[in-house]
Amino acid sequence: MAIKGKISFPGDKSISHRALMFAALADGDSRISNLPTGADVQSTRTCLEACGIQIKDVGDDVVVTGGGFSDPDQPLDCGNSGTTIRLLLGLLASQGINATFIGDNSLSNRPMNRILDPLSQMELESNSNEGKIPVTIHKSNIKGITYQSPVASAQIKSAVLLAGLGADGKTSVTEPFLSRDHTEKMLKRLGANLSTNGVLSTTSRLISPLSNFNLSVPGDPSSAAFFAATAAIVPESEIILNGILHNPTRMGFYSALQKMGAGMDFIDTWEEAGETIGTLKVFHQPLKGITITKDEVPGLIDELPIVVILATQANGKSEIRGAEELRVKECDRIHAVCKNLNKMGADIKELHDGFIIYGPKQLNGAEIKTFHDHRIAMAFTIAGLVANGDVTLDYPECVSISFPEFYSELERLRQ
Ligand code: S3P
Repeated sequence: MAIKGKISFPGDKSISHRALMFAALADGDSRISNLPTGADVQSTRTCLEACGIQIKDVGDDVVVTGGGFSDPDQPLDCGNSGTTIRLLLGLLASQGINATFIGDNSLSNRPMNRILDPLSQMELESNSNEGKIPVTIHKSNIKGITYQSPVASAQIKSAVLLAGLGADGKTSVTEPFLSRDHTEKMLKRLGANLSTNGVLSTTSRLISPLSNFNLSVPGDPSSAAFFAATAAIVPESEIILNGILHNPTRMGFYSALQKMGAGMDFIDTWEEAGETIGTLKVFHQPLKGITITKDEVPGLIDELPIVVILATQANGKSEIRGAEELRVKECDRIHAVCKNLNKMGADIKELHDGFIIYGPKQLNGAEIKTFHDHRIAMAFTIAGLVANGDVTLDYPECVSISFPEFYSELERLRQ
C-alpha cells in the first residue's frame, strides 16, 4: 500500500540529548521545544535531574535551569541509551561528580572502555565491570589530553570534549573520519572555547557558564529515513518530509537514496540555530544497487539497517563495507539484519564488517526477531510493506526508544 502526504518529525535525538546537557552547563534558564518523547532522551533528562539539575515542563517545551550539579543518591539509569551514558561520563567527569551508571540488558553488553580509556588518560578514576556497566566515576582532578580516537564516533569525541570542559590545559580529539558534529557546533555557539579543523577538535576548561538559549530541535533525519525509504520502495508513494535536519554529517542516507535513484526533490532549506533544515519530497522510482565504503559509514551509521532493506529491492549488487561498528549498537545489527532478511528470502551475505546484497528480490512474510532494537523494528516494519505475506515483530513496542509515534504516523499516511 502506497504512502502519501506530509509528515513532521520529533526533534533530532542527538541534538536533544546535547541540548539538555548543555542547558545544564548554561547560565540561567534555557527553553527547548520539539524534544522527542522517546525513552532515550527521557533517560538523559532523568539522569540530569538526579544530578540536581532542574528541568520543568512548560506546555510542550522544557525549561532547564543551568548549574548546581550534585552527586546523585542512586545509580544513574541510562536505560537503552548509549548516548546518555557516554556523553554523561564526560560531562559529569568535568563537573567533579561521583556517580554510578547502569542501564538495560542491551546497554549492559555495550563497550564503555572506548570512553573510560581516554578519560583515564585524563586521570579520571573509574571502575567498571570489565569495560561494561555498572561503571562508577570518582571526582578527580582531570587533565587535558591529545586523543586519537581509533573509531569515527561522535559519542567518543563528545565524551572527551565534554570532559575537557573541566580539565586543566587543552583537550584535543582527532578521529579517522568526521562523525556527527553537533557537540562542536553547539558548544561553539554557546560560547565554549572550542575550535575545529577537519577531524581535529580542541577545547579547554570553561571559564564561565555557557550562554543560555532557546532552541526548537529540528526534525530527526534518522527517524525520517524510514518514511523516505517507504516512499522509495512502495510503488505510487510520494511523501513530503517537513523541517528535517540537513546537517552534512547526517545526510549520508539521503545521498545514498539519491545515488540509488529514488525520486527526490529538495523543496526548501533554511538556517536555524546554526543548522540547515529542509523540506524534502521523496517518491517511488526504480532503485539500483549501491556501494558504501568505510569513510561514508559515519554519515549513515544509524540508517544502515534500512539501507539494506532498500538494497533488497534495488537492481543489482549492493555492498556495504567498513561498518563493523554496527555490531556494537543497541544489538549486533549486522547479525540481526542478516538473520531476519534470510528468513524473508533475501539474497544477502553477512560480512564481518557489512553486507553484500543482490536485488531485487521478492521478500516473504516472516516472524522477525527485533532484539529489542528500535531501528531493527522500524526497518523490518518497512520491509513488511513490500513482503508477500505477514511480517510480525516479537517486540514492536521497542520503537518507543526513539519514535513512539512511528506506527500511528505510518498508518495515517497509508492510502
Ligand atoms: C550518536 C552517535 C552515534 C549514533 C548514535 C547517536 C550521538 O554513535 O550511532 O545513535 O548522538 O553522538 P557513535 O558515535 O558511537 O557511532
